[in-house]
Amino acid sequence: MKLFLDTANVEHVAEVAAWGVLDGVTTNPSLVAKEGHDFKETVLNMCKLVPCVSAQVTATESAGMKKQADEYSGWHKHVVVKVPMTTEGLKTLKYCRSAGIKTNTTLVFSAAQAILAAKAGANIISPFIGRLDDVGEDGMGLIKEIMEIWSHYHFDTEVLVASTRHPRHIVDAAALGAHICTIPYDVFTKLSKHPLTDIGLKKFLDDWEKVKK
Ligand code: G3P
Repeated sequence: MKLFLDTANVEHVAEVAAWGVLDGVTTNPSLVAKEGHDFKETVLNMCKLVPCVSAQVTATESAGMKKQADEYSGWHKHVVVKVPMTTEGLKTLKYCRSAGIKTNTTLVFSAAQAILAAKAGANIISPFIGRLDDVGEDGMGLIKEIMEIWSHYHFDTEVLVASTRHPRHIVDAAALGAHICTIPYDVFTKLSKHPLTDIGLKKFLDDWEKVKK
């Protein structure tokens, strides 16, 4: 499974990329606004660190989306154009597939939307599991449903589990065979930690000090 960082913070991307486990980054307009830096500069800095950076269009009509897709994809070969799951977005996905522009369909909340995005030619679809959990639905249940559907066909569309909120989300998504998880920085840092690792290391080092004396 590929692991992406869900952020617009370049320092966080550099830190996690240095661990040797980072396959890409997803950004969105909210994350870019939170950091307050220039969008293009942020994307280009991230492209130097990882091979896949999702940059989201902000137009809502397909003509504007296609224009932004052409522009963003020309910035760097690592850019993946993020397109919202609307009928205008579907038209844009079709255009991007024929133009050789890589896409990630965002704001997927149902299996029906996942199927449509895959048929329109999305390279990646992003179901938002945390936001489904927030409204009392079963986010991971949606991933299970999509992976089961995918097992019957030959879609080349990767399933990216988005809106993850805790380490268990990543483990459960991996058990279901999801292709990618995008993870906020605070959750990513938790993935490497276990209290027994800290206790065990402290004991090893304390015992080693005794040997040295
Ligand atoms: O990048 C999109 C998605 O991961 C957003 O997550 O936490 O805002 O629901 P969240």
